[in-house]
Amino acid sequence: MYFEFDIEGGDFSKAGYASSQLKKILKQLVGDHKIVKRTVVALYEAEVNVVAHAFSGKVIINIDTDKIEIQVNDKGPGISDIQLAMKEGYSTASEKVREMGFGAGMGLSNIKNNSDEFYLSSEVGLGTKLTIIAYLVKE
Ligand SMILES: Nc1ncnc2c1ncn2[C@@H]1O[C@H](COP(=O)(O)OP(=O)(O)OP(=O)(O)O)[C@@H](O)[C@H]1O
Ligand SMILES: [Mg+2]
Repeated sequence: MYFEFDIEGGDFSKAGYASSQLKKILKQLVGDHKIVKRTVVALYEAEVNVVAHAFSGKVIINIDTDKIEIQVNDKGPGISDIQLAMKEGYSTASEKVREMGFGAGMGLSNIKNNSDEFYLSSEVGLGTKLTIIAYLVKE
């Protein structure tokens, strides 16, 4: 199954739309609530990152029998130091974003902790690509 959602940078009123849709979809398909919860949390944090830090983005979801693969690709400033960005507590969130309750610098590590595979790459001045995979079959 394949789904696509657009994300608009700066628009916090719509942040969380793709992850809430994913929640509805996975609740029908996946019996293991823990997997549903982890995957929805991961996508939510990724969506908020696009809204908070980028200009626009696209969510691509592929659900297979053995795994869920989610790509979140954005157009934006990119991340110059991914290792630093991954550090818990590191944040460049603006005052406006902090006023919305975001900017603890926990999102990326939260995404990593809630996924089975995590790939983050970025080109400064162009944008950022995130791929997360959740396994549906226990190893
Ligand atoms: N899509 C993105 N585009 C550009 N920079 C990003 C993106 N995602 C994350 N970053 C950078 O990495 C930093 C850390 O991201 P992370 O999600 O861990 O924390 P945060 O978004 O600042 O705060 P929180 O997620 O806790 O609300 C951000 O402050 C920002 O500098
Ligand atoms: Mg974040």
